[in-house]
Amino acid sequence: MNFQTPMTAAHPLSPLSGDEIKQVAAIVRRDVENGADILFETIELAEPDREVVRAHEQGTTSNRSAWANVYHHTRPGVTRCLVSLTNDAVVSQSYREDAQPLISAAEFMGIENAVKSDPRFIAACKRRGIDDLTHVTCDPWSAGNFGFEEEKGRRISHVFCWIRNSELDNHYAHPIEGLNATVDISTQEVLVVIDEGDVPIPRAEANYDRTFQKVVRDDLKPIDVVQPEGVSFKLDGRRLTWADWDMQIGFNPREGLTLHDVSVAGRPVLYRASIAEMVVPYGSPKGAHPRKNVFDIGEYGIGRLCNSLELGCDCLGAIQYLDAEINSLDGGVETIKNAICIHEEDMGILWKHWDFRLNRTEVRRARRLVVSTIATVGNYEYGYYWYFHLDGEIEFEMKATGIINTTACEPGKPGLHGVEVSPGVRGQIHQHTFCARLDMAIDGDANSVVECNTYADPAGPENPYGNAFRQHETVLETEKGAARKADPSTHRYWKFTSSDRTNHVGGKTAYKLMPSSTVTPFLSPDGPSGRRAGYTFNDLWVTKFDADQRFPTGEFVNGSDGSDGFPNFTSQNRPIVDTDIVAWHVFGLHHQPRPEDWPVQPCITCGFKLMPVGFFDDSNVRDLPWEKNAASCSLSEST
Ligand code: NI
Repeated sequence: MNFQTPMTAAHPLSPLSGDEIKQVAAIVRRDVENGADILFETIELAEPDREVVRAHEQGTTSNRSAWANVYHHTRPGVTRCLVSLTNDAVVSQSYREDAQPLISAAEFMGIENAVKSDPRFIAACKRRGIDDLTHVTCDPWSAGNFGFEEEKGRRISHVFCWIRNSELDNHYAHPIEGLNATVDISTQEVLVVIDEGDVPIPRAEANYDRTFQKVVRDDLKPIDVVQPEGVSFKLDGRRLTWADWDMQIGFNPREGLTLHDVSVAGRPVLYRASIAEMVVPYGSPKGAHPRKNVFDIGEYGIGRLCNSLELGCDCLGAIQYLDAEINSLDGGVETIKNAICIHEEDMGILWKHWDFRLNRTEVRRARRLVVSTIATVGNYEYGYYWYFHLDGEIEFEMKATGIINTTACEPGKPGLHGVEVSPGVRGQIHQHTFCARLDMAIDGDANSVVECNTYADPAGPENPYGNAFRQHETVLETEKGAARKADPSTHRYWKFTSSDRTNHVGGKTAYKLMPSSTVTPFLSPDGPSGRRAGYTFNDLWVTKFDADQRFPTGEFVNGSDGSDGFPNFTSQNRPIVDTDIVAWHVFGLHHQPRPEDWPVQPCITCGFKLMPVGFFDDSNVRDLPWEKNAASCSLSEST
């Protein structure tokens, strides 16, 4: 008899466990050429087809597979391996010579140290009066693809430099303008040191660290979030349920937080949702600044840069955390404790009505479920907040905080493309342009997309008083036809409709996407940065589901030429009616820095909403209990 205990079946969309990551690394080392020297860019779950996920829900155990992107420092390119954990084998491997791996956080300090050891850089510092380089910092930016001869075939980082006045001092207050270097990340060879201009280094301090706060205000009393009976959500493994909502919480090193199989009231809405890319282009044509056009997700991997969140600081109230396990370069495991935060928030009133004839009031309070994570990319923090509301609305909010990227200028002369935030310290105009990948599943996998625009009716006998206006609906039939811009003048939005279900008035059940944070791109589409940021030139793209189309900039972004991703994803112009569609929504922040963003930027936000429209037969929230919050008190009089 066989007394082997069957393995507990992980949900097929659960991220790889630490043990699974180690197993993948061991298989790859064993089965891929020169395995001993391999570096592991990414080890992540190979998400199975949805048929497998559905079969799991019916009780069938599924196989576990992983993607491993691996490389060697001694040769260019990346080998992409599909690994079966179940069969303990590499299933397939393909080598792409032109691909470059993500820049790993583990490589950041190596880049800085290489630059600071270079005699040309040391001489450039000396020319600026810096003899001791201890407090000089070099931020390792991705370098783009500018076609410079010495960079061809190499994996490059391009650095910008600052200096601290003392150990805890905010170095971004002291930019070393005109001093840059390019480094081969693999060999740590410094290729070029650029030392130009004579802009003085601003040395006035601008600190936010608590050590420097001489006066701390004491006029704010605590606000506590108290949930005496516990929380209303339940987490079972990675399955999160709350009110009518049900979803799986995923995570991967590149996108960070992902959501899967999101349903409300037992009906599917989204098969998968993530923020799949962002790009941050800066607007200055001067010096080395045109190189600043960084794809934080595709070039670094935002999941690997997630913070360990702190109770009572990042998160208030009764908090459920999830850890994230990611691979290290050597195939080991790094655990980010408390990477994902799950909690509930009061949201003011949900609905209210006073019937003045009856003098009766009905009011119900709103609350939302929040699933969030925060990543640090160099000087910036990005807070990802997914909100689930009681009325079926899904909302995403991005909070950008941290420290603006600074450059130095002659005091009083910031030039055309920036703002002086402090004497001699300049923030340049820039944008943060995100792309949400939304694999829609409104009441099933077969969906269509409808564009809704409101126009005034023409004047005439049918519109005698000139007041008529109405909504026009157009089904977007093909991928190229669904590459769309927002249009506030027609209150344009897009509706994702079910092919299988209608509501009680005969309409197709649907959710609408409200584009509320669109960003006008200013990059030339033909320039070295613009042609790599093709996705930013529309606010909506819709594609027929294709498992290989995961990222709007393609699988490998570092040093890419822009030929992968959008607009090429739509080149086949596939039909997108009554089929499995993926919506890609582009949104973001247009950011002309303010002095108020300095020295630490209070959160600025952008996002979008997915709102049920004819998905339910009515407002669906009458059944909330009538109640008064007993912990509330009136300060004006006793009630
Ligand atoms: Ni910004």
